[in-house]
Amino acid sequence: MPTITLIEHNGTQHSIVGEVGQSIMQAAMNAMIPGIQGDCGGACSCATCHAFVEESWVAALPAAEDTETDMLEFASERRDNSRLTCQLVIQDSMDGMVLHLPESQY
Ligand code: FES
Repeated sequence: MPTITLIEHNGTQHSIVGEVGQSIMQAAMNAMIPGIQGDCGGACSCATCHAFVEESWVAALPAAEDTETDMLEFASERRDNSRLTCQLVIQDSMDGMVLHLPESQY
């Protein structure tokens, strides 16, 4: 199973092991990682699962669909590498991925 690293805004690192087919949001919630709230349960309607993808991993991800792009408009601190982790389905190819969590989600 792939291991993904989530880094809090204060630099605290968490490595989570996710199941393929599960969203990164769900894996982070299961691991009780601070900074991922997932208020809508993964319905792409809250933007509280926002994360910044480490630049070296951005191109490895599928492009965001319109619903994710639209919802990212409501994410604070939005950047070019912003994604909603409920829309990122864990694949074996994500092993080693690094995501940074925005300070606004604490
Ligand atoms: Fe609500 Fe991702 S959990 S948009």
